[in-house]
Amino acid sequence: MLPAADSAGPACRVVRKEELILSTENVRIAPAEGKLGILIPGIGAVSTTFIAGVEAVKRGLAEPVGSLTQLATIRLGKRTEGRTPRIKDFVPLASLNDLVFGGWDIYEDNAYQAALKARVLDEPLLEQVKEPLSAIKPMKAVFDREYVRRIDGPNVKQGGSKMDYAEMLMDDIRNFQKSTGASRMVMIWCGSTEVFRRPTQVHQTLKDFECGLQKNDPDIAPSQIYAYAALKMGIPYANGAPNLSADAPALVELARDRQVPICGKDFKTGQTFMKTLLAPGLKARMLGVSGWFSTNILGNRDGEVLDDPGSFKSKEETKLSVLEQILQPDLYPNLYKDLYHLVRINYYPPRGDAKEGWDNIDIFGWLNYPMQIKIDFLCRDSILAAPLVLDLVLFLDLAQRAGMRGIQEWLSFYFKAPMTAPGLYPEHDIFIQLMKLKNTLRWMRGEDLITHLGLEYYD
Ligand SMILES: NC(=O)c1ccc[n+]([C@@H]2O[C@H](COP(=O)([O-])OP(=O)(O)OC[C@H]3O[C@@H](n4cnc5c(N)ncnc54)[C@H](O)[C@@H]3O)[C@@H](O)[C@H]2O)c1
Repeated sequence: MLPAADSAGPACRVVRKEELILSTENVRIAPAEGKLGILIPGIGAVSTTFIAGVEAVKRGLAEPVGSLTQLATIRLGKRTEGRTPRIKDFVPLASLNDLVFGGWDIYEDNAYQAALKARVLDEPLLEQVKEPLSAIKPMKAVFDREYVRRIDGPNVKQGGSKMDYAEMLMDDIRNFQKSTGASRMVMIWCGSTEVFRRPTQVHQTLKDFECGLQKNDPDIAPSQIYAYAALKMGIPYANGAPNLSADAPALVELARDRQVPICGKDFKTGQTFMKTLLAPGLKARMLGVSGWFSTNILGNRDGEVLDDPGSFKSKEETKLSVLEQILQPDLYPNLYKDLYHLVRINYYPPRGDAKEGWDNIDIFGWLNYPMQIKIDFLCRDSILAAPLVLDLVLFLDLAQRAGMRGIQEWLSFYFKAPMTAPGLYPEHDIFIQLMKLKNTLRWMRGEDLITHLGLEYYD
């Protein structure tokens, strides 16, 4: 039986809570009281652009452009109700004034010096936030050149097993909490991309993983030691890079045991962001795609690390995965089964952080007539990534206060390779991801979910 049309005749149908198995009865969200500590492995281009940006916004020097939590609204109820609060007024997020920052890096530069070297933000702007940035001095990193081959630095922990390193990180976190007075914390990996590895036996269960930490198992990456330390202390963890990190059964198990939310992998910023905007549109119109060639030049430290084939392989995997899922060649073989998809990244120092991404897309339409689309995205990598870092730390903290644990698929919106529950494929279509994110917020607050099903034609 069709549901009754809305008396107000909106072009969408609002799903009543009773129709859903999900119950909002038990979503109790603890208030965002006290300071929120943001722990960041990797004080590089993305993290310093994020921290400098938050400090600039706090001082009224700039707008938080690109941040959903700060700028976006959310529609509630029927369109006739006219209820569209800002997300930050709808869910209890930590205030920017309550954020405190700390991090680790293999280099000793404080966040101000690192930001100057990254050459993302102009010096006059950095000068105005010099004080808080200079106060952020990176703690000694857990680092292994087997995992990041193109860089090396002096600010690295020495001695002991991988379990000892995890303990040292936990000590760092306790000290950070003591010195900042943070009441809650979130960790987000903004470190370099580690070489490509698949999960092995040591990643299968928490017991195996802890045994591997004790025995210095070579398959455990530094980012996984950070993730372990965070989760063990009940701190939510997000991974902005494509390497596995928390995306391994043992760490998912730990997150669930400790009631901690996690998410990843690989911030969806430049070219892949474009891809996940365009591909759903082409598919929506049942237009065929025979080739998609993507190439990039970038000259920052990230580009230097990605120049190593092992690190590039991690990036290539996440960048290639999106089209297959969006276009569904199994369901539409005539349109997409022969798609030739290639991704290249070239390190080109003159460009610094100002990446250029080209896409040549060969498509075909009615009667198989070919057409081409060219995209030349002159973007700024860290300018696109910084607001994602902000949203992720605020949403993860919210999820933690709402008692949500394990993989947070509703945050797929932010990632190139979203983590999913075992056996599920990741959702890459950015519009579905946004709907899922907003519906999750509605659900948290006991509001009706929105499906956009129009039934006014029955009036
Ligand atoms: N900027 C974007 O648009 C974007 C998009 C997706 C993913 N990412 C990923 O985000 C990460 C950060 O990017 P970035 O441009 O800031 O790179 P970056 O090179 O400027 O900064 C990374 C920092 O991590 C440090 N580092 C490496 N290994 C470490 C370890 N084990 N512990 C502590 N610090 C460590 C490096 O010394 C470096 O300072 C990279 O993995 C990148 O691939 C960036």
